[in-house]
Amino acid sequence: MSEPLVGVSGVVKDFTVRERGRKRTVRAVDDVSLDIHRGETLALVGESGSGKSTLGRLILQLESPTSGSIRFDGEELVGAGRAGRRTAQRSMQVIFQDPYSSLNPVRSALLQVAEPVSVLSPEKDAEAVATAALAQVGITGDAVHRLPRSFSGGQRQRIAIARAIAVAPALIVADEPVSALDVQVQAQVTDLLRDLQRELGLTYLFISHDLAVVREIATRVAVMYRGQVVEEGPTAEIFDHPQHPYTRKLLDAVLVADPAIARARLRQISDAATGI
Ligand SMILES: Nc1ncnc2c1ncn2[C@@H]1O[C@H](COP(=O)(O)OP(=O)(O)O)[C@@H](O)[C@H]1O
Ligand SMILES: [Mg+2]
Repeated sequence: MSEPLVGVSGVVKDFTVRERGRKRTVRAVDDVSLDIHRGETLALVGESGSGKSTLGRLILQLESPTSGSIRFDGEELVGAGRAGRRTAQRSMQVIFQDPYSSLNPVRSALLQVAEPVSVLSPEKDAEAVATAALAQVGITGDAVHRLPRSFSGGQRQRIAIARAIAVAPALIVADEPVSALDVQVQAQVTDLLRDLQRELGLTYLFISHDLAVVREIATRVAVMYRGQVVEEGPTAEIFDHPQHPYTRKLLDAVLVADPAIARARLRQISDAATGI
């Protein structure tokens, strides 16, 4: 088997938090080892607070681990300082749940997609690259000159996706990318991500608490629980033969017809897990 694109090994991340003047350590990621292979969509699932976003941010070099190793394309990023962050900037992109927070409200769609291209690849015609990237997500013609607020939520997420693909990354970390969208729009954006992956040979780390979406898009699933990966395997295997009791609970909670009931059950699991 070829070397994985990303190799996470024994990674721990502690945060120090202050509560009423006292310092306390929160172990957000607890000894995680995980490979992401080229061309796959690895879904990271688990309830809120289980450490999914922190693991994504560690891979993106937005946080430094307390200990452990993170390799990208064979290169160790931990302790590599600026060189590691540069590798991450050039080769990884992130898409967040809320494109509002990541888009500049006073810049047109075209200019914000062009910006990272002109920073990372000054030799390129950034506006031409941006126009092509926007066309790939279905935004064409005069629309490219409009500001974010004049687009719908789904279209804004398309602009964020265009900005991610414009710099030709190898890996995209998508952190709850469709969680804020209506179900119908969710399906369109999920389909778009899948098409782009095929066309551009992208690798995805797809962070989500929504198992229905994960089943649609993921090739492999890793289940996080209290900072640890408790189970990992091909999507069908995880859904059809979950091994870990937590995975079974998670699946039982969401595999009911009524989303309101599913949400209530998920909340119960979360509360039990955090001891509230
Ligand atoms: N910057 C931070 N400072 C302190 N605690 C944090 C920070 N980021 C995350 N945490 C804590 O780490 C744990 C995991 O959080 P997170 O990775 O956001 O989980 P998830 O994405 O699965 O909801 C939580 O207990 C959260 O409060
Ligand atoms: Mg999160």
